[in-house]
Amino acid sequence: MGTTNDPFVAFTDVQKTYDGETLVVKNLNLTIERGEFLTLLGPSGSGKTTTLMMLAGFEVPTHGRITLDGVEINNMAPHKRNIGMVFQNYALFPHMTVDENLAFPLMVRKVAKDEVAKKVARALDMVQMPQMAKRRPGQLSGGQQQRVALARALVFDPKLVLMDEPLGALDKQLREHMQIEIKHIHERLGVTVVYVTHDQSEALTMSDRVAVFNDGIIQQLAKPSALYEQPENSFVAQFIGENNRLNGKIASVNGTACGVEIPNFGMVSAIPISVQSVGSPTTLSLRPERVRINPESGAYANQFDAEVQELIYLGDHTRCRVSVLGNANFIIKVANAEGVPSLSPGQKVRVGWKPEDCRALDAY
Ligand SMILES: Nc1ncnc2c1ncn2[C@@H]1O[C@H](COP(=O)(O)OP(=O)(O)OP(=O)(O)O)[C@@H](O)[C@H]1O
Ligand SMILES: [Mg+2]
Repeated sequence: MGTTNDPFVAFTDVQKTYDGETLVVKNLNLTIERGEFLTLLGPSGSGKTTTLMMLAGFEVPTHGRITLDGVEINNMAPHKRNIGMVFQNYALFPHMTVDENLAFPLMVRKVAKDEVAKKVARALDMVQMPQMAKRRPGQLSGGQQQRVALARALVFDPKLVLMDEPLGALDKQLREHMQIEIKHIHERLGVTVVYVTHDQSEALTMSDRVAVFNDGIIQQLAKPSALYEQPENSFVAQFIGENNRLNGKIASVNGTACGVEIPNFGMVSAIPISVQSVGSPTTLSLRPERVRINPESGAYANQFDAEVQELIYLGDHTRCRVSVLGNANFIIKVANAEGVPSLSPGQKVRVGWKPEDCRALDAY
């Protein structure tokens, strides 16, 4: 057993190849704290499920080491790891009733009969389904089946629960409801959760920290707010939330400020994040809500001429597409509370933003 100072889960230099040639997980170093809700987020094929399967014990790492509670588990059988799992397709036993499904992991673990009944009842309460105990999975809706799957993963009090796109098959409303419910269960039980999704809003809603995967590599591991506000590279800036990009060249760097030349259009003041020397290409990243239309002159260090291309009214805000600095797909979000200036397509405006809201990242 490990000491309480050990990380609960640790991947150290973990690699995985299925065919002996391509590494689908490249060099994974990741620690997960006790009680944490950590999400692996990334596009299809980026290695999320593979990572989860290595932790669950259904895949063996090609290289490196995985520890759980201080113990190396690389070659430990899945059922010995005491990990609960929830998959996208609920994987309930169709011929068993709900309470039999929930009793199953307890029977396997040789829990005493009266204990089993208590634990099953408690797990059903947790997912608000006590009245459904005698139904079979085929008599339940998708959302109800997913609740049972969740209850089954929790019923034996695992210290770690893995979930792979558990809400992928549900409609939007139910998915959002279950996101909050899972989050509350996590808070109540204090169990450690590793969650996989390719849905960024789901990841931001539910997680303590998010590991953004691409191409078998963690691109950034951070709290949701930091991923959105402080992306460290262009992939993360583009993958999380809406992002405006401007391609240019570093003209000057001075500590925490840089000047970026947008060839033929002008000079932008930004903060250097992942940039090399003067002359190297860079992509600026700027969130749509950080841009002002027709600011007072001199209000921002960055102010440029722009032309309104399109306006889309969305209730709480208006999306305004403008062309600026050679980019005709530059989006500005104007909150309707601010009193949207009356704009129309074709109109010439000025747009402005602060240098600190504009991050100079790797050329994308
Ligand atoms: N059993 C397998 N045998 C061979 N290749 C595999 C196997 N499982 C996954 N792969 C490959 O490994 C890569 C990573 O797959 P993985 O399932 O981990 O991706 P993912 O991030 O979970 O994607 P998705 O969002 O589509 O579920 C992919 O290129 C995939 O084709
Ligand atoms: Mg997957």
